[in-house]
Amino acid sequence: MIVAIDGPAGAGKSTVARNLAGRLGFRYLDTGAMYRALTWLAMREGLPLAEAEPIGELARRNPVVFDDAGRVSIAGADVTAAIRQARIDRMVSVVARHHDVREVMRERQRDLGHQGNVVIEGRDIGTVVAPDAEVKIYLQADPDIRARRRQAERPDIGADALATDLRARDKLDRERMQPAEDAVLIDTTDLEVDDVVTRIEALIRERALTTQ
Ligand code: DC
Repeated sequence: MIVAIDGPAGAGKSTVARNLAGRLGFRYLDTGAMYRALTWLAMREGLPLAEAEPIGELARRNPVVFDDAGRVSIAGADVTAAIRQARIDRMVSVVARHHDVREVMRERQRDLGHQGNVVIEGRDIGTVVAPDAEVKIYLQADPDIRARRRQAERPDIGADALATDLRARDKLDRERMQPAEDAVLIDTTDLEVDDVVTRIEALIRERALTTQ
């Protein structure tokens, strides 16, 4: 079974998806980490991030690898911590926009996603990567709350700068952020992580029963 969890930054995707995967004993695939790892590598190589061809080529030559503990590597480097830096937050949407990059990532995500039960989180999972997912969730939340949640993860950045970064990223990501028509929308503004996970678990049980 594939459970797709899409939504904007700060809506709670990662925490919810990771917890859900833990509870269900499913694998967890963080597709944002793949775009982040590629951005890290492109910056290390000093490539022009806005140019499609060199970045697409870099993506083709350097698959992102996840180990069983969820650590992320690219080109032989463990980038698990580095990809959460603010400089990556700011540039990742520029890299993720390239058609060539998306094609490479999509194929890899499909391969990784079709190896048994998995929770996949991203922006375009329910629409593009896994339109066949049995359960599709779209998480959303009030922009102030989203900025506040990001602030907790990035204590080194000022609240105003963070809210500005988030708005800029939303704008760039928007074309890929549409919920699938058959996605269930959950607003996490006033919900605890456990409540969201429990709600999704109930949906999964319901789906499993109706598709038997
Ligand atoms: O979820 P995140 O913040 O780690 O995602 C990082 C960026 O990657 C995000 O700004 C948009 C992009 N992304 C994407 O375009 N498609 C995905 N499936 C996942 C992430």
